[in-house]
Amino acid sequence: MTLRVGILTSGGDCQALNATMRGLSKTLYNCVDDVEIIGFKRGYYGLMHEDYVKMKPRDFSGIINEGGTILGTSRQPFKEMRVIVDGFDKVAAMKKTYKKLNLDALAVLGGNGSLKSANMLAQEGLNVIGLPKTIDNDTWGTDYTFGFQSAVDIATRYLDEIHTTARSHSRVFVVEVMGHKVGHITLAAGLAAGSDIILLPEIPYDINVVAKKVKKRQKSGKGFTVIAAAEGAISKEDATLPKKKYKAKVAARNGASVVKEIATQLQEVLPDAEIRTAVIGHAQRGGRPDAYDRQISTRFGIEGARLIMNRSFGRLVVLKQGEVDSIALEDTAGKLKYVDPNGKAVSNARLMGVTFGDK
Ligand code: F6P
Repeated sequence: MTLRVGILTSGGDCQALNATMRGLSKTLYNCVDDVEIIGFKRGYYGLMHEDYVKMKPRDFSGIINEGGTILGTSRQPFKEMRVIVDGFDKVAAMKKTYKKLNLDALAVLGGNGSLKSANMLAQEGLNVIGLPKTIDNDTWGTDYTFGFQSAVDIATRYLDEIHTTARSHSRVFVVEVMGHKVGHITLAAGLAAGSDIILLPEIPYDINVVAKKVKKRQKSGKGFTVIAAAEGAISKEDATLPKKKYKAKVAARNGASVVKEIATQLQEVLPDAEIRTAVIGHAQRGGRPDAYDRQISTRFGIEGARLIMNRSFGRLVVLKQGEVDSIALEDTAGKLKYVDPNGKAVSNARLMGVTFGDK
């Protein structure tokens, strides 16, 4: 009997999506005599609208180091999944496609929102497994999400480059690093690039503390400073706002980066400083996966195939203490993995003089 497996890549792309699909499909082709893999285009959109391709083994060949996703992706917010628009029931449509294609399993490569939808489909009775993708590394229950290390490499190189121009001009740079609501990329890249000031969503900053560190550097003969700021960095004052008010404040920025706000606040306290801002942006998700992401995503893909072959559904592949494993999708759905403000990564960085702008 043919084993029919659907695959989709959902949400923001990242490096190593292709490497993960290659690991999964190669394992299935290798271990199962008769397997058919269906690739849904543009994530859940393809599953909803029967937009798919029947994959061949050669489709997965030579893609281990290719960036992006051979299937395409799109954002289909979890909160809109059950909203019926013009009579179109997305959940019913996805179930219909799954049944029509006679699928035995569906592999979802996704971040937090996509994994919530994967869990919903599992609860609707589909045989789903999840693979943790996102540069943000914020999926609860796994030590690692593929794409993270490649993004950290890019952010680090960018900070390095800012470093030289900042030094030449004796300027202060506030650089925005991606990561959505968490600061994992900023913390890792900030440390790797030697930033003395790292601003994370998990540790609200006081601009006077930030300014004090800049002055301290100036006094010690370092006329320049590169501040690594997470896109979700937040001041102590803003952290006291009710959620709704803070959301409205962010919306009022009209797409402008938080680093503009930080630079303006800093300029008020340090009127003589020459301050510039920079935003790394989507380059952090682009290009080829690095060696770490290629190997870990290959291992994730193999584990995904193993779950499918063992008919162990409703599971998310994870990394725990260096070993690939799996947890229940329902355990991770809706939870974020934050930087621990009291964890050793933060407290040890403080020991060598890094400030997080809080004290
Ligand atoms: O989740 C990955 C991520 O790159 C975040 O770091 C960032 O906040 C968001 O996606 C950007 O989303 P979009 O690609 O929709 O602009």
